[in-house]
Amino acid sequence: MTEAPLTHLGIIMDGNGRWARSRGLRRIEGHRAAERSIHDAVEYCGEAGVKYLTLYAFSTENWKRPKTEVSFIMALLRSFIKRNIDSLHSNRVKVMATGRLDDLPQGPLKELRAAMKRTENNDGLSLILALSYGGRAELADAVVKIARRVVQGDMQPDDIDEGTIASDLYLPDVPDPEMIIRTSGERRLSNFLLWESAYSELYFTEVLWPDFRKEHLQEAFEDFRRRKRRFGNVDPD
Ligand code: IPE
Ligand code: IPE
Ligand code: MG
Repeated sequence: MTEAPLTHLGIIMDGNGRWARSRGLRRIEGHRAAERSIHDAVEYCGEAGVKYLTLYAFSTENWKRPKTEVSFIMALLRSFIKRNIDSLHSNRVKVMATGRLDDLPQGPLKELRAAMKRTENNDGLSLILALSYGGRAELADAVVKIARRVVQGDMQPDDIDEGTIASDLYLPDVPDPEMIIRTSGERRLSNFLLWESAYSELYFTEVLWPDFRKEHLQEAFEDFRRRKRRFGNVDPD
Protein backbone atom coordinates (compact mmCIF):
# COMPACT_ATOMS: atom_id res chain seq x y z
CA MET A 1 0.00 0.00 0.00
CA THR A 2 1.23 3.48 -0.85
CA GLU A 3 1.51 5.94 1.96
CA ALA A 4 -1.49 8.22 2.58
CA PRO A 5 -1.20 11.69 1.03
CA LEU A 6 -2.78 13.35 4.05
CA THR A 7 -2.75 13.60 7.83
CA HIS A 8 -6.42 14.14 8.61
CA LEU A 9 -9.39 12.76 6.69
CA GLY A 10 -13.00 13.62 7.47
CA ILE A 11 -15.86 11.45 6.24
CA ILE A 12 -19.53 12.39 6.13
CA MET A 13 -20.97 8.88 6.25
CA ASP A 14 -24.23 9.42 4.38
CA GLY A 15 -26.77 7.22 2.63
CA ASN A 16 -27.51 4.49 5.19
CA GLY A 17 -31.28 5.03 5.01
CA ARG A 18 -31.41 5.02 1.21
CA TRP A 19 -29.22 1.91 1.11
CA ALA A 20 -31.73 0.08 3.31
CA ARG A 21 -34.84 1.39 1.57
CA SER A 22 -33.51 0.35 -1.83
CA ARG A 23 -33.42 -3.20 -0.48
CA GLY A 24 -36.89 -3.02 1.00
CA LEU A 25 -35.41 -2.89 4.51
CA ARG A 26 -36.05 -0.50 7.38
CA ARG A 27 -33.72 2.52 7.56
CA ILE A 28 -32.05 1.21 10.71
CA GLU A 29 -30.70 -1.77 8.78
CA GLY A 30 -28.62 0.73 6.84
CA HIS A 31 -27.09 2.02 10.07
CA ARG A 32 -26.33 -1.55 11.07
CA ALA A 33 -24.69 -2.22 7.70
CA ALA A 34 -22.49 0.86 8.16
CA GLU A 35 -20.28 -0.96 10.62
CA ARG A 36 -18.40 -2.83 7.90
CA SER A 37 -17.60 0.42 6.09
CA ILE A 38 -16.29 1.92 9.33
CA HIS A 39 -14.06 -1.15 9.74
CA ASP A 40 -12.74 -0.75 6.22
CA ALA A 41 -12.05 2.96 6.66
CA VAL A 42 -10.29 2.50 10.01
CA GLU A 43 -8.18 -0.37 8.70
CA TYR A 44 -7.27 1.34 5.45
CA CYS A 45 -6.39 4.66 7.10
CA GLY A 46 -4.40 2.89 9.82
CA GLU A 47 -2.37 0.92 7.28
CA ALA A 48 -1.82 3.95 5.05
CA GLY A 49 -0.50 6.01 7.96
CA VAL A 50 -3.30 8.57 8.17
CA LYS A 51 -3.00 10.15 11.59
CA TYR A 52 -6.60 11.34 12.20
CA LEU A 53 -9.88 10.03 10.83
CA THR A 54 -13.00 12.00 11.78
CA LEU A 55 -16.27 10.20 11.13
CA TYR A 56 -19.45 12.27 11.13
CA ALA A 57 -21.75 9.84 12.89
CA PHE A 58 -24.50 12.03 14.36
CA SER A 59 -25.16 15.73 13.87
CA THR A 60 -26.79 18.28 16.17
CA GLU A 61 -29.64 18.28 13.61
CA ASN A 62 -30.03 14.49 13.63
CA TRP A 63 -31.84 14.79 17.01
CA LYS A 64 -34.84 15.90 14.92
CA ARG A 65 -35.25 12.39 13.50
CA PRO A 66 -37.99 10.05 14.73
CA LYS A 67 -37.36 8.93 18.29
CA THR A 68 -37.14 5.27 17.30
CA GLU A 69 -34.35 5.95 14.81
CA VAL A 70 -32.41 8.12 17.26
CA SER A 71 -32.71 5.46 19.98
CA PHE A 72 -31.55 2.80 17.57
CA ILE A 73 -28.49 4.83 16.54
CA MET A 74 -27.59 5.50 20.18
CA ALA A 75 -27.94 1.81 21.07
CA LEU A 76 -25.86 0.93 18.01
CA LEU A 77 -23.15 3.37 19.10
CA ARG A 78 -22.90 1.65 22.43
CA SER A 79 -22.83 -1.88 21.00
CA PHE A 80 -20.39 -0.82 18.28
CA ILE A 81 -17.89 0.36 20.88
CA LYS A 82 -18.40 -2.74 23.02
CA ARG A 83 -17.91 -5.09 20.06
CA ASN A 84 -14.88 -3.31 18.63
CA ILE A 85 -12.91 -1.80 21.49
CA ASP A 86 -10.62 -4.84 21.98
CA SER A 87 -9.56 -4.99 18.35
CA LEU A 88 -9.27 -1.19 18.08
CA HIS A 89 -7.04 -1.18 21.15
CA SER A 90 -4.86 -4.03 19.90
CA ASN A 91 -4.44 -2.13 16.62
CA ARG A 92 -3.20 0.87 18.64
CA VAL A 93 -6.18 3.02 17.58
CA LYS A 94 -6.84 6.00 19.83
CA VAL A 95 -10.58 6.61 20.19
CA MET A 96 -11.54 10.28 20.45
CA ALA A 97 -14.78 12.22 20.09
CA THR A 98 -15.97 15.67 19.12
CA GLY A 99 -19.34 17.32 19.62
CA ARG A 100 -21.74 18.11 22.43
CA LEU A 101 -21.06 14.78 24.08
CA ASP A 102 -23.08 15.63 27.18
CA ASP A 103 -26.22 15.42 25.01
CA LEU A 104 -25.64 11.69 24.50
CA PRO A 105 -27.60 9.20 26.62
CA GLN A 106 -25.76 7.81 29.67
CA GLY A 107 -25.18 4.30 28.29
CA PRO A 108 -23.34 5.15 25.09
CA LEU A 109 -21.58 8.09 26.75
CA LYS A 110 -20.15 5.84 29.46
CA GLU A 111 -18.99 3.30 26.88
CA LEU A 112 -17.43 6.07 24.79
CA ARG A 113 -15.61 7.65 27.73
CA ALA A 114 -14.26 4.25 28.81
CA ALA A 115 -13.02 3.58 25.27
CA MET A 116 -11.33 6.98 25.13
CA LYS A 117 -9.66 6.42 28.49
CA ARG A 118 -8.49 2.92 27.62
CA THR A 119 -6.94 3.95 24.30
CA GLU A 120 -5.63 7.41 25.24
CA ASN A 121 -1.96 6.41 25.06
CA ASN A 122 -2.21 4.55 21.75
CA ASP A 123 0.06 5.86 19.00
CA GLY A 124 -1.78 4.56 15.91
CA LEU A 125 -4.69 6.14 14.07
CA SER A 126 -6.76 8.63 16.06
CA LEU A 127 -10.38 7.73 15.34
CA ILE A 128 -12.51 10.78 16.09
CA LEU A 129 -16.24 10.14 16.35
CA ALA A 130 -18.29 13.27 15.67
CA LEU A 131 -21.36 12.80 17.87
CA SER A 132 -24.04 15.37 18.49
CA TYR A 133 -21.60 17.46 16.49
CA GLY A 134 -22.42 20.67 14.64
CA GLY A 135 -19.92 23.16 13.26
CA ARG A 136 -22.12 26.06 14.35
CA ALA A 137 -22.53 24.62 17.84
CA GLU A 138 -18.73 24.20 18.05
CA LEU A 139 -18.21 27.86 17.09
CA ALA A 140 -20.95 29.04 19.45
CA ASP A 141 -19.36 27.05 22.28
CA ALA A 142 -15.97 28.59 21.48
CA VAL A 143 -17.46 32.10 21.58
CA VAL A 144 -18.93 31.43 25.03
CA LYS A 145 -15.53 30.31 26.36
CA ILE A 146 -13.83 33.41 24.93
CA ALA A 147 -16.55 35.75 26.20
CA ARG A 148 -16.11 34.30 29.67
CA ARG A 149 -12.39 35.09 29.63
CA VAL A 150 -13.10 38.65 28.49
CA VAL A 151 -15.70 39.18 31.23
CA GLN A 152 -13.27 37.84 33.82
CA GLY A 153 -10.70 40.35 32.56
CA ASP A 154 -8.27 37.64 31.39
CA MET A 155 -8.25 39.05 27.85
CA GLN A 156 -9.33 42.10 25.86
CA PRO A 157 -11.75 41.93 22.88
CA ASP A 158 -8.99 43.24 20.61
CA ASP A 159 -6.83 40.25 21.55
CA ILE A 160 -9.26 37.88 19.83
CA ASP A 161 -7.91 36.55 16.56
CA GLU A 162 -8.20 33.41 14.45
CA GLY A 163 -5.75 31.63 16.72
CA THR A 164 -7.91 32.35 19.76
CA ILE A 165 -10.95 30.80 18.11
CA ALA A 166 -9.01 27.80 16.78
CA SER A 167 -7.65 27.08 20.25
CA ASP A 168 -11.16 27.09 21.76
CA LEU A 169 -12.64 24.52 19.37
CA TYR A 170 -13.40 21.05 20.73
CA LEU A 171 -10.10 19.48 19.59
CA PRO A 172 -7.60 22.33 19.26
CA ASP A 173 -4.60 20.03 18.83
CA VAL A 174 -5.98 18.18 15.82
CA PRO A 175 -4.87 19.70 12.48
CA ASP A 176 -7.51 20.72 9.92
CA PRO A 177 -8.63 17.93 7.58
CA GLU A 178 -6.90 18.06 4.19
CA MET A 179 -9.85 16.24 2.64
CA ILE A 180 -13.51 15.62 3.41
CA ILE A 181 -15.35 12.77 1.69
CA ARG A 182 -19.13 12.68 1.51
CA THR A 183 -20.89 9.55 0.28
CA SER A 184 -24.38 9.14 -1.22
CA GLY A 185 -24.27 11.90 -3.84
CA GLU A 186 -25.20 14.83 -1.58
CA ARG A 187 -22.97 17.82 -2.13
CA ARG A 188 -23.02 19.77 1.08
CA LEU A 189 -21.26 19.87 4.43
CA SER A 190 -24.41 19.65 6.59
CA ASN A 191 -22.70 21.53 9.43
CA PHE A 192 -19.54 19.36 9.49
CA LEU A 193 -16.26 21.01 10.60
CA LEU A 194 -17.21 24.46 9.32
CA TRP A 195 -14.16 26.26 10.69
CA GLU A 196 -11.71 23.42 10.11
CA SER A 197 -12.79 22.79 6.50
CA ALA A 198 -11.85 26.28 5.25
CA TYR A 199 -9.22 24.77 2.92
CA SER A 200 -10.26 21.12 2.83
CA GLU A 201 -10.49 19.38 -0.52
CA LEU A 202 -14.05 18.13 -0.95
CA TYR A 203 -14.68 14.73 -2.50
CA PHE A 204 -18.18 13.60 -3.37
CA THR A 205 -19.12 10.10 -4.44
CA GLU A 206 -22.46 8.53 -5.37
CA VAL A 207 -21.57 5.38 -3.42
CA LEU A 208 -23.82 4.92 -0.39
CA TRP A 209 -21.94 4.62 2.90
CA PRO A 210 -22.77 0.93 3.56
CA ASP A 211 -21.26 0.11 0.11
CA PHE A 212 -18.11 2.21 0.67
CA ARG A 213 -15.07 -0.10 0.57
CA LYS A 214 -11.28 0.28 0.70
CA GLU A 215 -11.08 0.59 -3.10
CA HIS A 216 -13.31 3.68 -2.92
CA LEU A 217 -11.02 5.21 -0.32
CA GLN A 218 -8.05 4.44 -2.52
CA GLU A 219 -9.76 6.25 -5.43
CA ALA A 220 -10.41 9.26 -3.21
CA PHE A 221 -6.74 9.38 -2.14
CA GLU A 222 -5.64 9.16 -5.79
CA ASP A 223 -7.96 12.05 -6.61
CA PHE A 224 -6.51 14.05 -3.71
CA ARG A 225 -2.98 13.52 -5.04
CA ARG A 226 -4.01 15.23 -8.29
CA ARG A 227 -5.43 18.32 -6.57
CA LYS A 228 -3.54 21.60 -6.62
CA ARG A 229 -3.78 23.24 -3.23
CA ARG A 230 -2.93 26.92 -3.36
CA PHE A 231 -4.27 28.32 -0.08
CA GLY A 232 -4.84 31.65 -1.82
CA ASN A 233 -1.32 31.81 -3.18
CA VAL A 234 -0.27 31.35 -6.82
CA ASP A 235 1.26 28.26 -8.40
CA PRO A 236 5.08 28.33 -8.40
CA ASP A 237 6.54 29.00 -11.92
C1 IPE B 1 -26.20 8.72 7.51
O1 IPE B 1 -27.17 8.08 6.77
C2 IPE B 1 -26.23 8.36 8.98
C3 IPE B 1 -26.71 9.44 9.87
C4 IPE B 1 -26.97 10.66 9.49
C5 IPE B 1 -26.89 9.10 11.27
P1 IPE B 1 -28.64 8.65 6.69
O2 IPE B 1 -29.44 8.06 7.81
O3 IPE B 1 -28.65 10.12 6.61
O4 IPE B 1 -29.16 8.02 5.32
P2 IPE B 1 -29.95 8.77 4.17
O5 IPE B 1 -29.17 10.01 3.82
O6 IPE B 1 -31.30 9.09 4.73
O7 IPE B 1 -30.00 7.78 3.04
C1 IPE C 1 -25.11 14.45 7.72
O1 IPE C 1 -26.03 13.64 7.08
C2 IPE C 1 -24.84 13.96 9.10
C3 IPE C 1 -24.17 12.68 9.22
C4 IPE C 1 -23.71 11.95 8.22
C5 IPE C 1 -23.98 12.21 10.56
P1 IPE C 1 -27.59 14.03 7.06
O2 IPE C 1 -28.26 12.93 6.30
O3 IPE C 1 -28.07 14.30 8.42
O4 IPE C 1 -27.58 15.40 6.24
P2 IPE C 1 -28.71 16.13 5.39
O5 IPE C 1 -29.92 16.22 6.26
O6 IPE C 1 -28.96 15.29 4.18
O7 IPE C 1 -28.10 17.44 5.05
MG1 MG D 1 -28.51 11.44 5.08
